[in-house]
Amino acid sequence: MSKKSLIIVTQNKNMREAIRKIDKVVNSDASILLVGETGVGKEIFAEYIHRTSIRSENAFVKISLSAMPADLLASELFGHVKGAFTSASEEKKGLFEIANNGSIFLDDIDDVPLNIQTKLLRVLEEREIMRVGDIKPIPINVKLITASKVDLKELVEKNIFRADLYYRINVVRINIPPLRERRDDIKPLVEHFLKHFSPEKKLKISKEALQILIDYNWPGNIRELRNIIQRICLFAEKEIIPIDLPAEIRGMNTIENLIKACHRCFVENSMTYGDVINCLELNLLRKALDDSQGNQSKAAKSLNLSLSTFRDKLKKFKIV
Ligand SMILES: Nc1ncnc2c1ncn2[C@@H]1O[C@H](COP(=O)(O)OP(=O)(O)OP(=O)(O)O)[C@@H](O)[C@H]1O
Ligand SMILES: [Mg+2]
Repeated sequence: MSKKSLIIVTQNKNMREAIRKIDKVVNSDASILLVGETGVGKEIFAEYIHRTSIRSENAFVKISLSAMPADLLASELFGHVKGAFTSASEEKKGLFEIANNGSIFLDDIDDVPLNIQTKLLRVLEEREIMRVGDIKPIPINVKLITASKVDLKELVEKNIFRADLYYRINVVRINIPPLRERRDDIKPLVEHFLKHFSPEKKLKISKEALQILIDYNWPGNIRELRNIIQRICLFAEKEIIPIDLPAEIRGMNTIENLIKACHRCFVENSMTYGDVINCLELNLLRKALDDSQGNQSKAAKSLNLSLSTFRDKLKKFKIV
């Protein structure tokens, strides 16, 4: 990964707090647990931890612990000696050995089988590993970074995660908030990805299109945003407007946005119910007039109103 792609784009207060917390502990031996939904940036944080630490010149090894049978996983992590099992025709170094003096990133730690949990605990407590089929311990010095999509505490309570391992890996815990809880990051992220995917086009995003992205809920978080911007960059010319955005994002937004905007009026501007409804109506009338270049008959028609009703409303709102 190049230095450039490692930039963690953010201006959010909680994210900056998380980064500050990391900066304080990168050079300690404390294990770091990254917790966050899919696509929030756990892996980019893990890279950041390694790259900014004194271990950065040494190896950074990452592995997902999900969807791998326990036997295979043990041999991946700890290596094996020749003949340890039928297919072990050669001895093999495990990832912990490869990461020695560097950092190891265990992704999806919430999926790790119990017998591997026991082995991991041993590595953390004794600071040594044992290859599968061997009896000789090998001393290991690695910075452990783990990531989980769920709160491990809940798994401990359900007895599917060892409490002692939990306390070992949870020495420093960094919560990475989902994108919908840091909407102030959407604009800088969009601008970052536009530059990244289309440096030569100098693409801009219109206010309206950006607002749609800001209001969307982002279940796939930054990964989803990144993919969308990447796709848009293929087709857009100069300025991205709402129609350039995927239908599912625009569709999800229309009514939802309206309700949110109205709600904001109540809460932030202390408007009354009547004020909000009037404001909606006033804006509908204005937009219809604008769209029909001031032609009242056309505007009334576009709203499915009779001309006289339309005119009454214009009078009510003192538009004419
Ligand atoms: N703050 C950020 N600034 C720039 N790029 C980011 C940021 N956060 C995430 N990304 C990018 O978004 C994508 C998803 O991030 P990442 O792979 O780190 O998420 P994750 O939490 O590990 O997801 P998963 O749980 O699905 O593995 C990556 O391409 C990453 O580079
Ligand atoms: Mg990941």
